[in-house]
Amino acid sequence: MRIIPIASGKGGVGKSLVAANLAVAFAQAGQRVVLADLDLGASNLHLVLGFHSPLKGIGSFLANTKSDFMNVVNKTDIRGLRFIPGDQEMPGLANLKSFQRNALIRRLLALEADTDILVLDLGAGTHQSILDFFLLSGQGIVVSSPAVTATLNAYVFLKNTVFRLMYTVFKKGTEAFTVLENIRKDNKHLYIPQILKEIEQVDPEAHKKFVDASKHFHPRLVMNMIANPKDADVAMKIRRSCEEYLDIMLEHLGIMYHDTIQDTALSSRLPVLLYKPNSVIAQSIYRIADKIMQDDEETFTLTKEDIDDSFQEAGLEAEIDFETKMDYVEELLHTGALSQGDLLETVKSQQFELGKLKKENNFLKHKLAQAISRDLNQE
Ligand SMILES: Nc1ncnc2c1ncn2[C@@H]1O[C@H](COP(=O)(O)OP(=O)(O)OP(=O)(O)O)[C@@H](O)[C@H]1O
Ligand SMILES: [Mg+2]
Repeated sequence: MRIIPIASGKGGVGKSLVAANLAVAFAQAGQRVVLADLDLGASNLHLVLGFHSPLKGIGSFLANTKSDFMNVVNKTDIRGLRFIPGDQEMPGLANLKSFQRNALIRRLLALEADTDILVLDLGAGTHQSILDFFLLSGQGIVVSSPAVTATLNAYVFLKNTVFRLMYTVFKKGTEAFTVLENIRKDNKHLYIPQILKEIEQVDPEAHKKFVDASKHFHPRLVMNMIANPKDADVAMKIRRSCEEYLDIMLEHLGIMYHDTIQDTALSSRLPVLLYKPNSVIAQSIYRIADKIMQDDEETFTLTKEDIDDSFQEAGLEAEIDFETKMDYVEELLHTGALSQGDLLETVKSQQFELGKLKKENNFLKHKLAQAISRDLNQE
């Protein structure tokens, strides 16, 4: 069974959209899929899938971990897709007791008997449980939007994941563990390559173990809600930071444009893949699903060239999708399917978004000016 956890750091960047639609794409391709909503406390995946009434979910299992887990694995109208809802009442994963988390992980892994792909929609943030769910696979997906806050959070999420991986490899009582603990206590801001160098000197055996473990750790990026091909470049920054400061190779799985059709799909209670399979956004999800299904997890290796290719490909896809979107507008206007009124609405909503961006931009400029004047004062 392949496990595909979907995380982000920042909320509202499209994890649930990506999770639900990827799950549908896999099921349509004939895979036996289970989609689980692990965003406890803020579960809303059932809405993206189109379930009206909340079904029994993980919350009711966690209330009694001896109960039959299969009670919360619901059938859906989509052939091959089963769904485990979360819980809106249950306080978030931050409050999960470790026996609950372990029981949940055991039950999820046991789905292997009749499941090909398990997709996990994770909550926002970097709580330990979220990191552990993310690390159930070496190839978890991080979703980001091009906004600075989102990319920063994606990076911070990955940084926390690497630390969590270190803590699972370096056992208590070892020299390596002590190095980590000292760094944490001193609140030192060290980059992973520096920490690894320190650990290699005091505990070469532990260092080797970590190097082996991290060989299987190749998180993948989905850059969502881009507005133009230029936005796709932001991914490069996350990649560089990951290589330089975290010593990890981030693969680019693809871009997705911001598309108002998603709002209509949502209000029609349908995943966009079913609502409008030919839309640019649905096609970009199919493309990502294909990339995931193409590689064989057993023999999964990744070279620097593969990573380069993945970024180049995503850049090209951003250009092509942009042209397709523009052609589509032309076509719709021509056939009368898109009225001048619709266009006016779109322009208005874009202006609203621009206004929001302007505010964010001013805020960041203000912060930058403050930081510069602080530096000058120190000199
Ligand atoms: N590419 C897109 N185009 C248009 N709307 C989008 C796109 N991606 C996401 N959205 C919308 O943005 C909102 C947030 O998306 P979603 O709920 O999937 O994010 P999330 O990361 O799961 O959020 P949370 O952290 O709250 O769980 C939703 O209304 C969704 O329909
Ligand atoms: Mg969500």
